[in-house]
Amino acid sequence: MTNVLSAVAWPYANGPRHIGHVSGFGVPSDVFSRYLRMAGHDVLMVSGTDEHGTPILVQAEQEGVSPRELADRYNRVIVEDLHSLGLSYDLFTRSTTRNHYAVAQELFKTVHRNGFLITKTSQGAISPSTGRTLPDRYIEGTCPICGYDGARGDQCDHCGNQLDAVDLINPHSRINGEQPVFVPTEHFFLDLPALADQLGGWLQTRTGWRPNVLKFALNLLGDVRPRAMTRDLDWGIPVPLPGWAENPNKRLYVWFDAVIGYLSASIEWARRTGDPDAWRKWWTDPSAESYYFMGKDNITFHAQIWPAELLAYNRSPGEYGVLNLPTEVVSSEFLTQEGKKFSSSRSVVIYVRDVLERYGPDALRYFLSVAGPETQDTDFTWSEFVRRNNDELVGTWGNLVNRTASMIAKSFGAIPAAGELTSADHQLLAGSKEAFTTVGEHLRHHRLRAAVSAAMRNAAEANQYLSQQAPWKETDLRRKGTILHVAAQVVADSNCLLSPVLPHGAQRVHEALGGTGELLPQPEIREVQDLDGGPAYPIITGDYAVQPRWESVPVVAGTPVPPPTPVFAKLGPEVVEEELARLYKREG
Ligand code: MF3
Ligand code: ZN
Repeated sequence: MTNVLSAVAWPYANGPRHIGHVSGFGVPSDVFSRYLRMAGHDVLMVSGTDEHGTPILVQAEQEGVSPRELADRYNRVIVEDLHSLGLSYDLFTRSTTRNHYAVAQELFKTVHRNGFLITKTSQGAISPSTGRTLPDRYIEGTCPICGYDGARGDQCDHCGNQLDAVDLINPHSRINGEQPVFVPTEHFFLDLPALADQLGGWLQTRTGWRPNVLKFALNLLGDVRPRAMTRDLDWGIPVPLPGWAENPNKRLYVWFDAVIGYLSASIEWARRTGDPDAWRKWWTDPSAESYYFMGKDNITFHAQIWPAELLAYNRSPGEYGVLNLPTEVVSSEFLTQEGKKFSSSRSVVIYVRDVLERYGPDALRYFLSVAGPETQDTDFTWSEFVRRNNDELVGTWGNLVNRTASMIAKSFGAIPAAGELTSADHQLLAGSKEAFTTVGEHLRHHRLRAAVSAAMRNAAEANQYLSQQAPWKETDLRRKGTILHVAAQVVADSNCLLSPVLPHGAQRVHEALGGTGELLPQPEIREVQDLDGGPAYPIITGDYAVQPRWESVPVVAGTPVPPPTPVFAKLGPEVVEEELARLYKREG
């Protein structure tokens, strides 16, 4: 048994989640965590909404509310989106809790004391019309490196380079187009050059990472510069040092605090269980493993900034002791939609809640698992969504469940006993047993596409077996019972194999074979008080202690089986037209 931390990227509380978001951090982390729990490991899955930084400020301005109001609004919306998708967080919290502030400040103070936060004076932008500071992301101009004319003050999305706003050619404000003036401003910079050797050494020891992710991370070491970890903003965590803490216009950089969320959420979780040190099993026990789930635009922060913060903290640790570095940064590529990159700002998006409302969680979780952007950019199309649902989820898997249950209900009313097994029976059962190893290995290594394909192959083989054995023609009742017993066993096995991907459908399959009670524990939303006196908020949590085991469990002859209703719903061809019309209407 291993202690495994599932560290899931924190979505910005600046809007509802679209399917691009949950294809990166959501479904992959949940499938992994659910599988590991079934395989007997001790999983801690944490995340929350990321509520600081310019993404929040930009949206608050657009909606005409304060950043706090905006964060409150979308924290709730996102909690609902992720809960409806069945994501089984031990704790999904937020970055505006007092606990998070305290943990982030403890890390900052220790990293500072250890000498890795150095002050530098740089040129900060000011809006001449308001006299207020203009965050880098609000500034647009031409990239001094590649010449792209939509570069932002913090980075160029075209060539990927990190930029300083002052270096942009023809800089102008995204808010009102005016040209900013630059004035000297003092900030704390994380001394990445001083950590570069250690970072490189650590990256060299990483094995099993997706090649693109490791390559990207190693590449970053080619150009290591100190990176600003404070900002001229009035929204964020105060800088916990004398002379700074009192300044209402200096705050920690959102990415400095966001990645600390994995630790602060683990600590909050432990405090809420009544055992405040329980988080240490995942953070200070060197045999624990940690997997970080995200989209590829987050790699820099998880493969460089976060490990650097940890190394700097560990040099002479504070109250938390020596903290584990990531075992693996599990990054997905981008999900495009009908050929376009997902981006809510360009409004060509499919919202999670719309898909769930119309088609339920199974179809979406299935699609994102079997056809998600695991190792390359991948296109989501409605026609492919409908095809996968109809041919695979309904046609292969649902069909196997329904024909097996309906034949059993009709001929026996209960799972029949098995008589003597033929070699075809043995072969099918042996393959099904073996699938637990194959599918489990794939899931352990974040190969969801391969895992789902292997699990579906198991179901497809049972369908073939039924066609060959043709129990409906069988006149020997004992043989007929044996065939259906074997089929029921493979249905139960396949249901177990698919349950990390389809936790909702698994309950219906369980019941179709006469199962009772709750097969899989599910997450719930709970309203809680802030532990240190801040405002109340909703969390996602759950009790996942009791799990079905990741193994073939013999079906029990005599279990009553009722006539089934379809476990998955077929989608009509009009769905594609409807959805495309909706999409282009919104876009146009
Ligand atoms: N909010 C960031 C984004 O949506 C992700 C933050 S991940 C964190 O890109 F762990 F650092 F919080
Ligand atoms: Zn560029």
